Order: sequence, then C-alpha cells, then structure tokens
Amino acid sequence: MEQRPHNQLEPEGNDRMVPEHQQPEEERQPSEKVNNFLDEGKQYQQVTEELKKSMQELIDLKFALDESSIVAITDSRGKITYINEQFCEISKYTKEELIGKDHRIVNSGLHSKEFFHKMWRTIGAGEVWKGEIRNQAKDGTYYWVDTTIVPFLNEKNKPYQYLAIRYEITERKRVEEELQKMMVKIIDVQEEERKRLSRNLHDGIGQNLYSHLITINRLLAEMDHPLLQQMQDEATELIEEIRDISWELRPSVLDDLGLVPAIRSLLNRYSEHYKIDVIFECVLNRRLYVNIEITIYRIIQEALTNIRKYAEVFEATVTIRETEESVRVMIEDKGAGFDPKQEHRGVGLFSMEERARSAGGELSIYSTPGKGTRIIFEVPN
Ligand SMILES: Nc1ncnc2c1ncn2[C@@H]1O[C@H](COP(=O)(O)OP(=O)(O)O)[C@@H](O)[C@H]1O
Ligand SMILES: [Mg+2]
Repeated sequence: MEQRPHNQLEPEGNDRMVPEHQQPEEERQPSEKVNNFLDEGKQYQQVTEELKKSMQELIDLKFALDESSIVAITDSRGKITYINEQFCEISKYTKEELIGKDHRIVNSGLHSKEFFHKMWRTIGAGEVWKGEIRNQAKDGTYYWVDTTIVPFLNEKNKPYQYLAIRYEITERKRVEEELQKMMVKIIDVQEEERKRLSRNLHDGIGQNLYSHLITINRLLAEMDHPLLQQMQDEATELIEEIRDISWELRPSVLDDLGLVPAIRSLLNRYSEHYKIDVIFECVLNRRLYVNIEITIYRIIQEALTNIRKYAEVFEATVTIRETEESVRVMIEDKGAGFDPKQEHRGVGLFSMEERARSAGGELSIYSTPGKGTRIIFEVPN
C-alpha cells in the first residue's frame, strides 16, 4: 500500500497578497482603513483555508482511486502521461515502458477496429465511455477490464486529457464463458434427448400401435362387434397423439429436409389448430448448420406459442431472410404486446435468448402494450 500523501499548502503567507483599495486615500478614515484591511485579511485566510481543504480532498480522492482501481491518464492523442502501480502490476510493464506510449501496447487483438473507433468517437465528443476490454500483458497473458474513460474538457469543451479507470474482471469473464459453454452443452444434450425420444416414440410405440390397428381391422373384416369398432377408433386416436408428441419433441422433417420445410409444416399445423394465419416470407435457399437450423426452429416455435397464448390476434408474420452478412429471423404480431422492462421473463423468452447466444447470434425483443410484439434473431453468416 502506498503512503497516504498530505497537503503541502500552508495557510501562512498573507503578506503575499496586498488588498487593492477602491476608494481614494484621502477620503478614508484611519479606523475604516484598518477595518477593511482586517476584513480582507480574514477573507483571504478563509479562501486559503477552503483551498487547502479542497486540495486535501483532491489528494484523498486520487489516493482512493489509485488504491481501488487501475488508473491511466492519456493526453488528447492517447499518449500515456500517467499510470498507477496497479496498471503496472496487471500489465506487467514498468512505468518507463508505458509512459509516452498509447494503449495499443496492451491491445489483445480481440476487439474490432470499429469497437475502438466508436470508443474514440464517444470520448472525443467529450462523453464518458464504458465497456469491457480484453487486454494482453507483457508476458502474453490476457486480462479483462471493466473500463470507464472520462474526458477532461478545456474551456472550449474539447478534451485535453482522458482519465481511464479500470477494474479487473478476468475471473468473472472466465466464469461467464464456462457458463456459456455449459449452456451450449445443455441445449445440445436436450435436443439430442428429444430426438432420441421422438424417434423411439414414433418408431417403437407408434409402429406397434399401427400393427395393432391392422389386426383390429382384420378382425373387423371377419366379424362385426361394437367393441371392435370402439377399439379401432381408440387405436387411431392413440396413433395420432403419439405422432403429435413425437412431432412436438422433434419434427423429423427438420432433420431430413431442413429448416424451411419444417417451418412450413409447423405453420400449417399451427394455423389449423389455433385459427391464426401466419404469413411466411422466406429468402433462404440452402441448408444452414444443424445447430443454427434448430435454434431458428425453436425460436419461431416458442414465439408462436406466446402469440397464441397472449397476443390475441388472428394473424402473425414470420420472416427468414439471408443476406451476405447474416441470417435474420423475425416473428411479429400486432396484438396485445407487453412491456419488456416490466414483464417477468418466463422460460420461453429466457430459452430463446440462451439458444440465440449459444448459436453465436443475438435476440432482440421489441414489444409495446396494445401495439404488438416483434422478436428478431440475427446470426452472422
Ligand atoms: N407475443 C406476445 N404478446 C403478448 N405478450 C407476450 C408475448 N410474448 C410474451 N409475452 C409476455 O411475456 C411473458 C413471458 O413470456 P415467456 O418468457 O414465454 O413465459 P411464459 O410463456 O411461460 O409466460 C408472458 O407471460 C407474456 O405476458
Ligand atoms: Mg412462453
């Protein structure tokens, strides 16, 4: 820990500032002169006291900042002019190696040029910038810092230097990454399990029931019995139900024919079942990676479930559009809507977001009460 510094400004030295007199000498009474002098002396002492206090406060603040955070000051062009102990400790560079350089010395190459351009645009305009940055230390190791950059402005409102305050968040980032990996695995395992169950239901119980139905039909051809008729109806119904469950778990068409046929089939069933017309616009002429196809399918499925449960509409729109940069999916209704800030996130919205992130994409939820809801999923191509 560094020694706590003290204010060096002394209160003495009244003689350095001689008060100016506003009135001509001869109009003043001697006692008035003395009083004025004493008054101004007192004021001066007061100002000095206050100055001393604010100076000590500044010193304390700087001390607190240096103790608690990684601090750097750069000039308006980004050259480092001040660095504290903690900056040296984490970056493994010495003060001498850092002063006069710019922050590219610790750049890890992770963030895009655009990321730093945006940062410079913000602070260059005199605004505070906040963000999380991965840096690289002298020995090659990476560290993450939560960063706040505060521009100091001159009288023309132009930044003349920047103060960067950072906190290390490497451990948090590591845990987040672990969690993310785990989430990807959980989703994978869940999908595989669904696929397995779906196949077993369809090919196992489903097929057995089907042979059962054939037997009943053969019996019915030989003799007429009301109970046989009932058995035939029940077996048919069971087969339907098993197909539905198997399809809900994982539609085989998704694996066999791909996303677009699976969506068409989903929308047909949905419209028929819930009497909601879904307009489907699709610009996508190829198969995507399996995990992306499943992600898109599940997001559309979940969003449509919410529409039939909450939106109170007879119409919705699903759009899939592929551009050079990305695949963009939108599910929209003009129904009841909700306030995304107020409304609790249920399993549906949560799993949509997690799936989106796990597939390397991004999910945006826009909704306004009374106007409707729009869910957008975008994944880089
Ligand atoms: N399309 C929609 N229209 C109106 N409200 C919606 C819509 N989608 C979601 N919501 C609201 O958001 C909430 C959270 O949705 P979700 O995360 O899927 O959880 P759940 O469906 O289990 O309630 C819902 O309870 C509902 O109030
Ligand atoms: Mg839901």
